[in-house]
Amino acid sequence: MSEPEPLIVARDLGRTFPMGEEDLRVLRGVSFRIDRGEYVAILGPSGSGKSTLMYLIGCLDTPTEGTLELAGTDVATLTDAELAALRNEVIGFVFQAFNLLPRTTALENVALPLRYAGVSPRERRKRAKEALERVGLGARLDHPPERMSGGERQRVAIARAIVTRPSLLLCDEPTGNLDQRAGREITALFERLNAEDGVTVVLVTHDPLIARRARRNLRVVDGEILYDGPPLDGLPTPAVVEPSASVPPAA
Ligand SMILES: Nc1ncnc2c1ncn2[C@@H]1O[C@H](COP(=O)(O)OP(=O)(O)O)[C@@H](O)[C@H]1O
Ligand SMILES: [Mg+2]
Repeated sequence: MSEPEPLIVARDLGRTFPMGEEDLRVLRGVSFRIDRGEYVAILGPSGSGKSTLMYLIGCLDTPTEGTLELAGTDVATLTDAELAALRNEVIGFVFQAFNLLPRTTALENVALPLRYAGVSPRERRKRAKEALERVGLGARLDHPPERMSGGERQRVAIARAIVTRPSLLLCDEPTGNLDQRAGREITALFERLNAEDGVTVVLVTHDPLIARRARRNLRVVDGEILYDGPPLDGLPTPAVVEPSASVPPAA
């Protein structure tokens, strides 16, 4: 194994929202480091600042305190254009609400980020197809999300997130809208993207099983990190169902 390489370094990172008379200090100066190849679950009560933290890490929002380094770059030193380029190159996002175009084919949904990256139509098609095959939807290329199950929709969203080959996947409650079975399949998929493709995964979850299977847990309470370490509950790591992603599509 080579030396651990920091991908995310947060130093006293904070976010305060102005709220009329008083300011709301949602994130209270958190510090941590996440290396390339890690799989980290972020836990914590509703309203504790988890999404705010994800938005900062993903450069969708700007900190009001502290610094954030992504892939060795202090993001505060970048121009808007450089920041957008770094974000497109390094990060893929997966949200609880799948945020897909419901009546547009899976293939076109997944190819969209490549259009913004200036990739040729032919190459876009090829790479979108590969990404959909990677998530087990090789047989659903021309289906629109409105005719798919929740689990399939989230797979399309994951394919869209990985089509640019990011080193980091940021996932905010990605199984929050799914039934347990679909949630387990999505979990297994993230684990494979981490183990087989080397993608660093940071996901916010309320699911104790997902948290327990992550190698590292960060617990956020009232805008502070109260715990950073291996899963704590001491129970044996449970298995998840094999993802149907491992089943080749029907000919
Ligand atoms: N843009 C915003 N303006 C004002 N308050 C916000 C904003 N975004 C989040 N908050 C507040 O910050 C707190 C934490 O929100 P959030 O990070 O979404 O929590 P979590 O994801 O842990 O449920 C909440 O009290 C929320 O109302
Ligand atoms: Mg949230």
